[in-house]
Amino acid sequence: MVTQTQLNKHDFSINLQRFPTKSSDKSLRAWDAADEYLIDQLVESVNLADIKTIIVINDSFGALCCAIQALAPHIKIDTFTDSYMSKLGIQNNINNNAPLTGKNTHITVNSSLDFNSKLNKADIVLLKVPRTLAYLDYLLAQLRLYLSNDTKILAGGMVKLITSSVVKLFEKHFPGTKTSLAKKKARLLISASCDEIENAGTSDNYKVNISQVKDEELGFTLYNWPNVFCREQVDIGARFLLKTLINYDFAQKNIIDLGCGNGILGVSVLQRSPNTHMVFVDESFMAIASAKQTLAQAAVDDVSNAAEFYVNHCLSNITLKSVDAVLCNPPFHQQSTVTEDIAWQMFKDAYKVLKPRGQFFVVGNRHLDHHIKLKKLFGNCKAIASNAKFVVLLASKSI
Ligand SMILES: C[S@@+](CC[C@H](N)C(=O)[O-])C[C@H]1O[C@@H](n2cnc3c(N)ncnc32)[C@H](O)[C@@H]1O
Repeated sequence: MVTQTQLNKHDFSINLQRFPTKSSDKSLRAWDAADEYLIDQLVESVNLADIKTIIVINDSFGALCCAIQALAPHIKIDTFTDSYMSKLGIQNNINNNAPLTGKNTHITVNSSLDFNSKLNKADIVLLKVPRTLAYLDYLLAQLRLYLSNDTKILAGGMVKLITSSVVKLFEKHFPGTKTSLAKKKARLLISASCDEIENAGTSDNYKVNISQVKDEELGFTLYNWPNVFCREQVDIGARFLLKTLINYDFAQKNIIDLGCGNGILGVSVLQRSPNTHMVFVDESFMAIASAKQTLAQAAVDDVSNAAEFYVNHCLSNITLKSVDAVLCNPPFHQQSTVTEDIAWQMFKDAYKVLKPRGQFFVVGNRHLDHHIKLKKLFGNCKAIASNAKFVVLLASKSI
């Protein structure tokens, strides 16, 4: 089912799709009330004709970029995201709306690791507040580091996201930030201009907060960039899966760690399996940066030949043959939406890349009933471990 909807505002009309475009829930839209509030505030508070460059951060699927383009096609937009799925969504919507908004696409889509001097050319920053506080802290520190002195920051999010901790972080980096009234359950945070802030743009001693998790049961340290899943401890699902994987021999096999996060599953297996090749895949740029760092610091022989890393949506466009096993602790949400669609896509992609007799190991909450899907796809599926909360499933590809 393709979800495509039209956002009509301020004399423009744009078509916006989520990514992936097919969703099991047709009520989901590619924008929310916080996007609309940000667009309204932008139109009401500045004269767009005077604006040359806008930075957009965390645009879910391109609603903000496409709206700016429709309102003022002369504006150059640099957009930053940690999500490869968002990147694809933004690019699709920019392309799809080009005939409506004008062919002038002064838009570049950058990753969350690419913040740099590009920021100091911004007249305005539009920021969708992320769910993870450590990531928000990182983003605000990047803005503080690079923005020039007269840039205005308009941040927005749904009310449930704008907690007192979020407000405190804005206060820390941009004292004087004002919080708006709520509108359709969304709220804005509007920063005072940077020239009122001592040392704005000169925090060059800022260090990215990469957490290090040392866990007794792991023989290595997990490195976690700010937006990485479960960055303060070992995920309990991952721990349960690892205890089960100990019973399997992966030596000399080709394996994929699908949705690798900080690399916990793949690095554990590499550490005890000689001559094994591991492909780490995640849609988060920071996850891949973390997995690389975790592996680099772990005691694994011949690291450069042992691993490959891909920022990707599941296993699309990855043509790997002869994969012996796929390890997966799948996500159960996309951004703030709870969904099983991504897990299902991972299952289908895993089936495609496995060779005959290849094995798919999945951990999940018992209530998710992944076994029904796996049985449908692989023709078999057995629970190889379970406790009150989790089940580890193994599905094997037939010949
Ligand atoms: C539950 S976490 C598991 C992380 C890690 N493997 C662990 O066990 O702790 C799921 C991971 O899937 C990643 N992910 C979400 N959607 C994805 C997609 N479409 N393609 C690849 N990875 C994705 C998330 O970024 C996250 O790192």
